[in-house]
Amino acid sequence: MRPFRPEPVIETPRLRLRAPRRSDAARIATLCSDFEVARTTARLPHPYALADAEAFLASGDGLDPAREARFALEHPAEGLVGFLSFFDEPAPATEIGYWLGRPYWGAGLMTEAVTAALAWAARDWGRTYVRAWRLDENPASDAVLVKAGFLYTGERRQTFVTSRGEALPSRGQIWLA
Ligand SMILES: CC(C)(COP(=O)(O)OP(=O)(O)OC[C@H]1O[C@@H](n2cnc3c(N)ncnc32)[C@H](O)[C@@H]1OP(=O)(O)O)[C@@H](O)C(=O)NCCC(=O)NCCS
Repeated sequence: MRPFRPEPVIETPRLRLRAPRRSDAARIATLCSDFEVARTTARLPHPYALADAEAFLASGDGLDPAREARFALEHPAEGLVGFLSFFDEPAPATEIGYWLGRPYWGAGLMTEAVTAALAWAARDWGRTYVRAWRLDENPASDAVLVKAGFLYTGERRQTFVTSRGEALPSRGQIWLA
């Protein structure tokens, strides 16, 4: 049996960041099946089926909570509106990734979620820095990262984008606690 560990909950003015549940699968599939959500992420496939959401949620069972953390973004009126993950690829660096359902874009929600998640990562998770990679063609994510306090590292790489089956130019950013 796995040892009991309390799952972190992060409250922001408009959102609750909580552990994902198997029952989130249908909602995740609905929001992620929008190509506009998938096309600027590295990992989301397209098309995105219920089975993809179920497999993603099942993969969370084996995560080491010292190395990775996943949060569903819950809105009191709308339910699950997006997702935010910390993962260690390549270890030991911690990288952040996120997506928000398209109906919720442009209201500052992801900036709010990322800012609060970084504070949690520094205060409760012992991280002194967090990395991010975002596509050159993703100015909205750049704005989120810059507003949350990320700096440009000067690193550039080609990132493989699963939904488009191609590698596209991206830049590295870093947040220092
Ligand atoms: C990136 C994403 C999470 C942003 O979420 P959001 O809640 O809309 O972000 P916010 O409202 O907090 O901030 C977005 C900022 O980008 C700006 N922005 C949006 N589109 C832009 C564009 N085409 N050019 C320049 N800036 C843009 C907004 O004006 C806003 O900045 P402001 O508050 O200074 O005006 C959302 O668009 C998304 O989920 N996209 C698909 C998935 C994705 O790309 N994930 C990130 C992978 S690195």
